[in-house]
Amino acid sequence: MNTTEHADSDRELSSQAGHSGSAAESDALYDFMVVSNRLPVDRCSPDEAGCEDGWRRSPGGLVTALAPMMTKTDGAWVGWHGAPDETLEPFSHGGIDLIPVQLSTDDIELFYEGFSNATLWPLYHDVIAPPEFHRTWWDSYRKVNRRFADATIRSAAEGATVWVQDYQLQLVPKMLREARPDLKIGFFNHIPFPPPEIFAQLPWRRAIIDGLLGADLVGFQRPSDAGNFMRSARRFLGASVKQQQIHVKDTDGKTTHIARAQAFPISIDVKQISELARNPEIIERSRQIRRDLGNPKTILLGVDRLDYTKGIRHRLKAYEELLADGKVTVENAALIQVASPSRERVEHYRLLREEVEGTVGHINGTYDTMQNTAVRYLHHSYPIEEMVALYLAADVMLVTALRDGMNLVAKEYVTARTNNDGALVLSEFAGAADQLKQALLMNPHDIDGLKDTIMRAVNLEPSEAARRMRAMRKQILDHDVDLWSSDFLSALEEKVIRDDS
Ligand code: G6P
Repeated sequence: MNTTEHADSDRELSSQAGHSGSAAESDALYDFMVVSNRLPVDRCSPDEAGCEDGWRRSPGGLVTALAPMMTKTDGAWVGWHGAPDETLEPFSHGGIDLIPVQLSTDDIELFYEGFSNATLWPLYHDVIAPPEFHRTWWDSYRKVNRRFADATIRSAAEGATVWVQDYQLQLVPKMLREARPDLKIGFFNHIPFPPPEIFAQLPWRRAIIDGLLGADLVGFQRPSDAGNFMRSARRFLGASVKQQQIHVKDTDGKTTHIARAQAFPISIDVKQISELARNPEIIERSRQIRRDLGNPKTILLGVDRLDYTKGIRHRLKAYEELLADGKVTVENAALIQVASPSRERVEHYRLLREEVEGTVGHINGTYDTMQNTAVRYLHHSYPIEEMVALYLAADVMLVTALRDGMNLVAKEYVTARTNNDGALVLSEFAGAADQLKQALLMNPHDIDGLKDTIMRAVNLEPSEAARRMRAMRKQILDHDVDLWSSDFLSALEEKVIRDDS
């Protein structure tokens, strides 16, 4: 084994951190624990809606899906609270016990911005941007994963279920299993898992696979992600894989543990979005948005974190060419692009912002009139109420990701379209394409194809739009995020079929 991949050094880190591997020493013990890089709360000021003791529940379906489970069972959430160098004691918010993990300024630079978001993120998203490999980043990733594992180990009751989330914490499952074989351990990867031909680049590929295989169940967004993971386990660890079961063997070739890999496509809080979409104030706000834009015939909308995986540049290029071709004009169409700020200290994100803003400036400079703007660009995050108003205002939703684990914006848009109108242009490289088969699917690298698909969406017959939207809405209404979490957790409880032959 390559020394850089040697798992034993993790034990050293563990003893330095002073953890005993025993649950008995800590105060509160929990039967159900979720572990994710970020805690499901954000800081807020007291005058903001929903702010309680300086904290507000983060937007997103994950917390909504898990909150009932947290309160029903004795549950806690382990994660970083979002500020550097600050140590917080465990606290409760909205009925959920929260166990904060501290990250220093160095950890943020090396573990979060470095290894998580400049090594793993681009590597796992088809190397759209070149991943960087630095040993100091890897050391920090191990050290921080150990800290999350230790915080969990200290507070997990005997036989507890622990559900670890996402690519920032891939070493945690094995760390938990080594210290606490009594735990039931699940892991869910919210982003894609790359094919072994790309994963091969990672100098620490064995340690990552080994870390994940500490789980009883490793969940992915798409069957292809689960397949990629199993092929990597076979290729880089020599694991034997039979029907989604990965046999983890000791040096004598004896199976010590069986991990399963399976797809569980994540969804959204359907009830919340549907209720907001029927709220008269939000409907009125959507009309206001249309009026503010001069009531054009067609409003197109993009909503993304400002991330190079989202294909924002491809979308703008296609739109600019449609304006140049005269297929759309600033009088009859407007594109709203919400780009929420993200990972702003990471180089590729800085460059992307410059490029996107340069392109928007160029398009608007060329096509705007005194009354009309071609692209309304908003570098902000908005509360969900405003997002739903935007979904209701938009005739065409553009999801042009070059690679995306799922893309929940696509699912939110469809859920908000309670009148079964509107059109969704969806990249086949987003996980959501597996479920939303009646979207107008396209390859965002094919700019002519993207332009044609946008024009098909703009000119979609109402009857065809309704037929497509109805089918997509049924799919999502039948598969909300509660079902996702309960499917995962019941699969985690299932016994593996042991077949050593
Ligand atoms: C993706 C990841 C999440 C992450 C989110 C926001 O959805 O799967 O794990 O939390 O992006 O990114 P950030 O770096 O701000 O946490």
